[in-house]
Amino acid sequence: MDTTVIAPDAGAADLPPPIARRRTFAIISHPDAGKTTLTEKLLLFGGAIQLAGAVKARGERRRARSDWMKVEQERGISVTSAVMTYDYKDCTFNLLDTPGHEDFSEDTYRTLTAVDSAIMVIDAAKGIEAQTRKLFEVCRLRNVPIVTFINKLDREARDPFELLDEIEQTLQLDVTPASWPIGMGKGFLGCYDLFEDKLLLIARSKGERPAEGEQCQGLDDPKLDKLLPDYAVRELREQVEMARGLCPAFDFEAYRAGDMTPVYFGSALNNFGVRELLEGVARLAPPPRIQPAAERPVPPADDKVAGFVFKIQANMDPKHRDRIAFVRLASGHFKRGMKLKQVRTGKLLNVHNPVLFLAQDRELAEEAWAGDIIGIPNHGNLHLGDTLTEGEELHFTGLPAFAPELLQKVRPKDPLKAKHLGRALTQLAEEGAARVFKPRLGADWIVGVVGALQFEVMADRIRTEYDVPVIFEPTVYYTARWLESDDPAALKALTEGERSAIADDHDDCPVFLARNAWHLEDAQKNHPKVRFLKTRERV
Ligand code: G4P
Repeated sequence: MDTTVIAPDAGAADLPPPIARRRTFAIISHPDAGKTTLTEKLLLFGGAIQLAGAVKARGERRRARSDWMKVEQERGISVTSAVMTYDYKDCTFNLLDTPGHEDFSEDTYRTLTAVDSAIMVIDAAKGIEAQTRKLFEVCRLRNVPIVTFINKLDREARDPFELLDEIEQTLQLDVTPASWPIGMGKGFLGCYDLFEDKLLLIARSKGERPAEGEQCQGLDDPKLDKLLPDYAVRELREQVEMARGLCPAFDFEAYRAGDMTPVYFGSALNNFGVRELLEGVARLAPPPRIQPAAERPVPPADDKVAGFVFKIQANMDPKHRDRIAFVRLASGHFKRGMKLKQVRTGKLLNVHNPVLFLAQDRELAEEAWAGDIIGIPNHGNLHLGDTLTEGEELHFTGLPAFAPELLQKVRPKDPLKAKHLGRALTQLAEEGAARVFKPRLGADWIVGVVGALQFEVMADRIRTEYDVPVIFEPTVYYTARWLESDDPAALKALTEGERSAIADDHDDCPVFLARNAWHLEDAQKNHPKVRFLKTRERV
């Protein structure tokens, strides 16, 4: 995975206004912390949807149309990522949705390579949970700035000091409160916005947007004594004084460098604290950042268009059986009909029907700027990690491919459908849904995944999208390693000596399938000139 340090805001000065106003971000959280609810409320405040519940309704409709989504529905998880673009005040937000379930973390990791910042949602009763931590680590590798939202203050929650301390200790991240909660659970009255000096009182209704808040002249403002009960004002003043003593003041540069997170408190379900969060992201979060490429860093203000494919989704619309490659534009001003070079193949691609993803719809993208995500419908010629440019040989780095931790054999129930199965597997591998290996000996296909649930999703998709019922079975294989060597003879010696353990992935890269840890160690010892790679970066 790429660890290039990107200086905060480097190159962002003097951005053309359409690029400067873009905020491309994702929400990271542990399942159930409230990511879906918050997404919906952000869209609601952004005016992108009119009714609470629309995101779920959209989800239901989509599921009803597409069979394989049943797995998602039954498990109550979100398997696919999507992009939602909306405007709020002076900003255009591109919110990249990420699947929260840990079995799909690979897809999530890739999505995080396409954002410039993130919101971390934490359940106030639970604090930092396993998946939050994992996703945070991915953000840290790229110095992604993070705004934190501590959610569900309307329920019994942990002490705010304890929560701040936990974030600081477990994530090694400086924290500073952006707002401070007044009470919690049944006694939750609202928050004091420390950045804007505003008192925000909760209106306990689910559909309404709370009023803008009461402007105060600091915490000593007598207004507070009128608007809040005595005990609450006293507690608020004491706690904020203590918090200011314990936490460092907000440092913009430290936030932009990914070293400090401002923390908002609220309740997404009650629309509370969402407006402040959204304004915080508009004001603080970076516009499109410099993207690392093997040849040179690519600043967003470059005249020429360049971008990379970070996600492929097949058959989003079953009527068309299309495939969409999600491209993060790293630089330039894209216009519909542009011819872009696919650097991997050298071929020119006429992008005449690119798609922009609005909250409830997709529409033809007449133009797009650095920071935007466009969808390019295609028939499988675009692969994960592909770079598109106006001609330059560029290879964006940092899109990770992980060695699968679980391997199974897959065969069609009807042996006559072996060819169809091969095609389905190759397409799904290109999409990034799983790794697919074809052993050089025998007729089986081996599928490798990071989480067991991916097998179920695969089986369901192969059956419904390709009409090939399949059976997954255990294999003798324990793990897979990609093989690389500067010495072709050394590689040949291994692939010939260990024929039964050699397979090719969908890109025709050789892979070693080890039967156990000892087998792997032994092969490494016997073939010192060959590198056995756990991850293969797609360049
Ligand atoms: P996720 O996407 O992170 O998995 O979480 P999601 O938004 O689906 O929220 C998980 C549960 O937490 C949902 O309840 C949701 O209503 C609830 N929730 C989200 N924000 C808040 C909040 O601010 N306060 C409270 N009290 N609850 C919140 P559920 O019962 O699982 O689902 P549902 O039947 O309400 O849809």
